[in-house]
Amino acid sequence: MVFADYSGKKFHILELVVLATHPDYWRRGIAKSLLSLPISKYKNKIKIESSVVEDNEKALKFYLSLGFEVEGERQKSFSRKGTFINEKLIAYYLKD
Ligand SMILES: CC(C)(COP(=O)(O)OP(=O)(O)OC[C@H]1O[C@@H](n2cnc3c(N)ncnc32)[C@H](O)[C@@H]1OP(=O)(O)O)[C@@H](O)C(=O)NCCC(=O)NCCS
Repeated sequence: MVFADYSGKKFHILELVVLATHPDYWRRGIAKSLLSLPISKYKNKIKIESSVVEDNEKALKFYLSLGFEVEGERQKSFSRKGTFINEKLIAYYLKD
């Protein structure tokens, strides 16, 4: 799990850059417990932002199950074997 902790104009946002767990250990609550750390630690932030390619249903279900919301969509931001893929922009609100 990798976070970018901004200073300056986006200081109130924590960006989740990468989150992955080993396939042998999926569905054991590991990613959920990793994410509970920043959720409880960063009292000065208002939201966690991240993104998921739109065909990554596993990850999208995971984030939605934790209370992340889809805030938007970036069009054709990934390219895979000549096909462009949209990216869902997601956020978890630590405070209103
Ligand atoms: C997405 C990912 C991080 C989830 O990790 P994990 O350790 O398996 O997740 P958890 O066990 O903590 O799952 C918590 C909840 O999320 C949901 N969830 C997780 N994986 C899911 C899946 N494949 N299908 C449906 N729901 C899922 C479930 O509600 C799950 O709770 P439950 O098992 O009690 O039903 C993991 O699948 C992964 O590393 N994928 C590849 C990398 C990736 O896509 N990263 C995210 C995009 S950057």
